Amino acid sequence: MSDDSLKSAFDPSQVELLFVDDDDEFRDTAARRFVRRGFQVQQAPGVNDALRLLQDRQFDVVVSDMSMPGLTGIDLLQRVKELSPECEVILLTGQGTVETAVQAMKLGAYDFLSKPFSLAELETLIQKAYERRQISQENVQLKAVLERNQPKVRMIGESPAMQEVFKLIAKAGPSDKAILIQGESGTGKELVARSLHEHSSRAAKPLISINCTALTETLLESELFGHEKGAFTGAVAAKPGLFEIANGGTLFIDEIGEMPGVMQAKLLRVLQDGSMRRVGSLQERRVNVRVITATNRDLATEVADHRFREDLYYRINVMSLDLPPLRVRAGDIALLVNHFLGSDWQIAPDALRALEAYNWPGNIRQLINVIERAKILAEDHFITTDELPAIVLHPTTTAGAAVAVTTILAALADDGTLSAIEKARVVEVMQKQKYNKSRAAQVLGISRRSLYRLLEKYDLDGAPSQTG
Ligand SMILES: Nc1ncnc2c1ncn2[C@@H]1O[C@H](COP(=O)(O)OP(=O)(O)OP(=O)(O)O)[C@@H](O)[C@H]1O
Ligand SMILES: [Mg+2]
Repeated sequence: MSDDSLKSAFDPSQVELLFVDDDDEFRDTAARRFVRRGFQVQQAPGVNDALRLLQDRQFDVVVSDMSMPGLTGIDLLQRVKELSPECEVILLTGQGTVETAVQAMKLGAYDFLSKPFSLAELETLIQKAYERRQISQENVQLKAVLERNQPKVRMIGESPAMQEVFKLIAKAGPSDKAILIQGESGTGKELVARSLHEHSSRAAKPLISINCTALTETLLESELFGHEKGAFTGAVAAKPGLFEIANGGTLFIDEIGEMPGVMQAKLLRVLQDGSMRRVGSLQERRVNVRVITATNRDLATEVADHRFREDLYYRINVMSLDLPPLRVRAGDIALLVNHFLGSDWQIAPDALRALEAYNWPGNIRQLINVIERAKILAEDHFITTDELPAIVLHPTTTAGAAVAVTTILAALADDGTLSAIEKARVVEVMQKQKYNKSRAAQVLGISRRSLYRLLEKYDLDGAPSQTG
């Protein structure tokens, strides 16, 4: 990633400025000048008015007179730093207030300017303050990107179905539109989301992912939107939400079909107005985020059944990308097998034929698991049918059922612990339900979320793990 792409040229129209001074004439003149220069300017004649404005919107830079009747510039500075720590404050001081100015710097003011000064000087300072605000935001983002340091996406596939997908990615990626990715479990939805981001003008900015299934409604809200200190028990410090962290970049919301109704409404609001509030805050924050979503449910049906908001559906589905299941990707299985085996491995022709003949309900993820397992069992870097699971070699329902029963019996024989049996039953139902988590959860009589917890607990990852 180049430095240039992160550092954008200074654009005054991006800067929201607040002028606070009890001197109406000065404040008015200054405000008008900065409006002419292209800044977005609001003004307030005193600290209380300023705080009211700050309550419900976000400013980048506050310029305030130090001494005003009632509350002073220092009081304002302290409140600003509580409300929006990322907002920079410049204080304007008269003569003889050097000590106060020093105190102001300690309290986090960006700088102070002693009267008399020219508005050109003030403008330079505002620009610098804004740039510092940008840099600190970019640092947060860069950190997020580094933490998720992922290699470039490499998607394998030469089948016509995948060629279609690649074409769509090349077209949809740079479009900056909201995209809904649909496809069975393990078909590569997350990979496609990353690829779309890499094909977009936002590629140098973060791609942040969140999975709706893994979180409770409250957690989901504070993850997405952040919270203020004290917003709820446990909120010991203010925390920015993923929308803020992804600012300028892409937010990938996985398993959107699992999003609770209340959250659907909140998400719709950000998508409509490009602004949001942290939990426990009245302040509107502007965000510029491209949203990519994925689901393995049929969202149109969810909408028809009133489980998913229609208005949100249209917002996230400006364009949709349907991923083909592995069984219709003729020719790709051999490619994928060779890719996941790596160059120093070989596979016997009949073993490859068996893999190609199987219908892969768990798609690529299942294929990866089968290959990883075979590699562990194989000798001399050579895979034969001996290393392939029975379910792949004899993919009839009876064989599937036989495997399931054997697994449960084995669990009983093993140690008979409750969790061994639980695990075996989860594996069995997942196989029978072709790795469809919603159906598996239904059969097991538990919520999808509980199923996720079980899959995590037993390290099952949603696709066959060939228990052992
Ligand atoms: N075309 C591809 N080429 C190579 N690897 C792929 C391809 N598609 C998917 N994979 C790999 O398959 C695995 C599953 O992909 P991914 O997690 O993107 O699927 P998913 O559709 O999000 O699955 P789920 O619905 O279970 O969340 C990952 O390890 C991914 O790297
Ligand atoms: Mg996924």
